[in-house]
Amino acid sequence: MKKIGVLTSGGDSPGMNAAIRAVVRATIYNGLDVVGIKRGYEGIINGDIKDLNLSSVADIIHRGGTMLKTARSEAFKTKSGFEKALNVIKIFGIEGIVVIGGDGSFRGAEKLSQVGIPTIGIPGTIDNDLAYTDYTIGFDTATNTVLHAVSNIRDTSTSHGRANIIEVMGRHCGDIALYAGLAGGAESIIVPEEKYSIDDVCKRLIQGKNRGKLHSIILLAEGAADNSYEIAKEIEEKTGIDVRLTILGHIQRGGSPTAFDRILASRMGAKAVELLMQGEKSRVVGIKGNEICDFDISKALSLKKEMNKDLYELAKILSI
Ligand code: F6P
Repeated sequence: MKKIGVLTSGGDSPGMNAAIRAVVRATIYNGLDVVGIKRGYEGIINGDIKDLNLSSVADIIHRGGTMLKTARSEAFKTKSGFEKALNVIKIFGIEGIVVIGGDGSFRGAEKLSQVGIPTIGIPGTIDNDLAYTDYTIGFDTATNTVLHAVSNIRDTSTSHGRANIIEVMGRHCGDIALYAGLAGGAESIIVPEEKYSIDDVCKRLIQGKNRGKLHSIILLAEGAADNSYEIAKEIEEKTGIDVRLTILGHIQRGGSPTAFDRILASRMGAKAVELLMQGEKSRVVGIKGNEICDFDISKALSLKKEMNKDLYELAKILSI
C-alpha cells in the first residue's frame, strides 16, 4: 500500500480533527502518502482531494469541527455517484480509505469495502449510538457541554423555583441525556430506550418541591419526544410548577474536544492506519474496556445498541 485517503462524513463531532491528525501522522510515520478528501463522500465523487503533510494537521488537535469538512452525501448512494467515486479513487491512486463518522458513514465504508477497496471506519459522532464500541469520538465532549449547560440552568432554576427541561441530541440514542443527567444530578432522565410516564415525572417534581427543593432538572433526549413543548406544557399543567424548556441544539456539536476524546481519537486514528497496513479490508475501530479493538464493518453495523440500564437505574435511585 502506498497511499491512504482520509475523510470525515455525517454530523461532525469534537475530536474528528484529532483523529485526522492521528491518521495523517501515523501514515507518514509509516512511510506512506496520505490525502485528505473534502466533504465526506462528496469529495470522492468530485475529486476534491488534497495531499496532506505533517504541517497540514498542525494546530488542529484542540479544535472542534473537522478541517476536512463534512457532508451527508445522497449522491454516493446512487449507482452513478458510486461509480464516479470508484473512478476518482482509481485516478488518485488511493489504495485504502479511513472513514471517520457515524453509522450512515459506515454504510458507505461497507459499500467501498464490498467492491474491494480497503476501508476502515473510525466512530466519530456525538450520539454514542454504535453498539460495537463503548464510546464514539465526540460523545464525551458533547456530554460535558451539556453538563455545563445543566449547571448554568440549575442556577436560574433555583433562583426562580422552576423546573427546567433540557432537550439534548442523540438521535435514537439516549446516552447524552443519560450520562449528562447522571453527572448533573437530574431529577428525571427521559430516553427513547425506556418507557416513561409524565405522571411519574410530575410525581418526582412534586415530591422534590414538598421537601424544599428549589430547582428541578429534567434531561430529555430528542429521540424520546415528538414535541418537547407539549411535554413542558403538560408538566406545568399537572404540577402547577413553572416549567421552562431549553433545546440545546448544535452547541453540543462544537467546542474544543476533551482530553478523553483527543486521546480516543489519537488511539483510533493510529489503529486504523495499522489495520490498513496489515492488509485489513473491512474493519471499524472501537474501544472496549479501554482496549482499542476492531470489528468487521458489516458485523458491527448489525449489532443493536443497548442502553446501560445500570446507569439509568442508578440515576433514578440517586434522584429520589
Ligand atoms: O448524529 C449527530 C446529530 O447531531 C444528532 O444528534 C442530531 O439528531 C443530528 O445529528 C442533527 O443533524 P443536523 O446537523 O443535520 O441538523
